[in-house]
Order: sequence, then C-alpha cells, then structure tokens
Amino acid sequence: MPQINIFDTTLRDGEQSPGVNLNQLEKLEIAKQLERFGVDIMEAGFPASSQGDFEGVRNIARTIKNASVTGLARATTSDIDIAWDALKDAAEPRLHIFLATSPIHMTYKLKKTPEEIVQIAVNMVRYARDKFPHVEWSAEDASRSDKDFLVKIIEKVIDAGATVINLPDTVGYTTPEEYGALFRYVRENVRNIDQVALSAHCHDDLGMAVANSIAAIQNGATQIEGTINGIGERAGNASLEEVAVALNIRHDKYPFTTNLVLKEIKRTSDLVSKLTGMAVPANKAVVGRNAFAHESGIHQDGVLKNASTYEIITPELVGIQSNNLVLGKHSGRHAFKDKIEQLGYHLSDEKLIEAFKAFKLLTDRKKEVTDDDLFTILTDIQTDM
Ligand code: KIV
Ligand code: ZN
Repeated sequence: MPQINIFDTTLRDGEQSPGVNLNQLEKLEIAKQLERFGVDIMEAGFPASSQGDFEGVRNIARTIKNASVTGLARATTSDIDIAWDALKDAAEPRLHIFLATSPIHMTYKLKKTPEEIVQIAVNMVRYARDKFPHVEWSAEDASRSDKDFLVKIIEKVIDAGATVINLPDTVGYTTPEEYGALFRYVRENVRNIDQVALSAHCHDDLGMAVANSIAAIQNGATQIEGTINGIGERAGNASLEEVAVALNIRHDKYPFTTNLVLKEIKRTSDLVSKLTGMAVPANKAVVGRNAFAHESGIHQDGVLKNASTYEIITPELVGIQSNNLVLGKHSGRHAFKDKIEQLGYHLSDEKLIEAFKAFKLLTDRKKEVTDDDLFTILTDIQTDM
C-alpha cells in the first residue's frame, strides 16, 4: 500500500500564528514529541529569520535522530548558507526553499519576470544541492499559478537537483476538485516527476485544508505538510491529526499508510496547545474537548449500548482514555444512572426517580452538571432516607 510521508511544520508555519513565540527549550520539547508521534520530516524553523530561530533549529537538528530535520530558506545564497550551518549536524539534513510562481506574487511582491523566476529557482536549487542531500522546492502560491508555467519550472528545478516538489495552497483559496486536478496535471505532464516526492501544503482560509490535502493524496501527492492542531499563518494549516485519522478511519476510500503513531495524537496536541498558548477549540475534530463527549439522552443511551452508534473514532485510537457522557438538560435516565454508579451510588428504583428529578431541575439552571453537583443531590436524597 502506498505510504504518505508526513512533513510537520508546527515549529515553522505553526509558529507563524500571530501571538505565538516558542523559545528554544519549548521548540525542542515539541520536536521530541513530534519524533515520538512518528513524523517523517519536521520543519524546525526558518534559520535566517533570527538568531534565536537559528539556534532553535540547530538544537533540534543535533537532537532528533528518527526524522529528517529541515529549515526554511528564501531563494538566496545567504539564507541557504545560514540554513546549512543550522542543519548540517542533523541525521538527515534537508532544505526547504520557496519562491513564488503566481502572476500576483511575481508581479507585485517579487517584481520579476517568469523567466527570471525560473533562473533564480534553478540556480538556488543547484547551489543548495552542493550542501544538502535533500532539497525541497516550493512553488509558493502554486494554486494560483499558471499550470503550464508550473510544469516548465518544476521540470527545470528537478533537473537542477530538487528531491521534493511542493505545491502550496498558500492563501487557502483552492477547492478539493481544483487542487486534486492540479496534482493530476503535474503528475501527467511533468516529464521527470517520478524522480521526486510530490508534496501538498494547504492553508485553511476557507476551511478546506484537510479536504484539499486528501484530494492531493488521491491525485498523486506522496507527502502532506501540516501542523498539530492546525495552527499556522492566518486561519492555519491542514491539521495533521485530522488527515491521519481520516486516512485511518476511511481506509476503504483512502488506501494509504503513514508512519504516524496515532495514540500519540492527544499528548502531542496538548503539548502544542500548552506551549504555544493556543487553545484547542472544544468542538475541533479529533482533539477538541467535545470530540468524544455526548450530551443528548438519545446519543448517551446509544453509546452506552454500543459506542459505535455515535462514535466513528475510538478515543483510545488517538490516546484519549475514554469518551465522556456530559450530564446536561438533554441527558436521559440511562446516562444518569450510569454516572452515579461510577461515583459509587446504587439507589433503589424509587430513590433513583427522585434523584433524577432533582438533577433535571438543576439542568434548567446549570448548563453542565458536575460530579460535585451530583454529590450534593445524592447526599440530600440519602439523608432523606
Ligand atoms: O504557505 C506557503 O506557501 C508556505 C511556503 C513557505 C511553503 O508556507
Ligand atoms: Zn504555509
């Protein structure tokens, strides 16, 4: 079965989330957890961006043994030299060079002609390959670039020595159909594409980063880039845990494997949230606090009879101990009885009805009934005996 390489950029694109600033120790702690999670490649930072980031990348490069460590560089010799200094001690050093290829970026940001862009890309990839065994070249804003221009420049950078070609949806503008078609076009038209890995890098401005990443896989991508908890520039990047779990759960539709250790998902998510200070939304897929919580009586009753009635992912798969039946105004007697028995109370049928009534009255005043609330209700009922 084809394997998809996982390229984690939590420590680079993820750190570009407004308000996030990780120190070197924090970066190293996250890098070690990413290694346990089983990512194939981790982008540790952008060494030329600051002395702190340079040192952070160098620390990670010297420590991580079971993943390839990479750093970002603009298409300049000085960025590449600085990145080499930071990465040269890595077990498998890799460079990630980017250069925009869309008319918007070439005209307004870079102020260069397409021919000049091709020349810079080729020269810088060649320069980088004199040092690095692996060089990824990213066509920034690929999803808004001319497809035939992409074919031309990709063929040339592969001839110059690139080992990975990345087609980012830099501004999160594309749709799954379009992004899939782009990958298919590149696979079918770039003469030397089989010599390299082909990568997808999606942003979530329209909430389609995960769907776009999966469309890319279905159309020939062999590598997916993303972040833990989907953090990143603006609306963030594709959430790696969501891509990984979707591939796992919908194996019937997506027959691909990864090296990820899914039971490390929760721990990784918690650590990234704690150190970046970015809270995970309660309803976020896979790792949100409510992802395995059930509030309505009908759902709770179903889950107590058989969890598969309302759960497509087992909590254990992603390293969560168990699901959670939240007691609120929609909860029924079945979940209530189950909960109080867990707390050590075994009531007669009559007392149970009484306690359930008291609980229902409370739910009109309180959104969520906690264990402490239940203790109060049950103590009242018992002292009443
Ligand atoms: O989104 C993007 O285009 C990037 C590049 C640097 C690859 O993050
Ligand atoms: Zn990005």
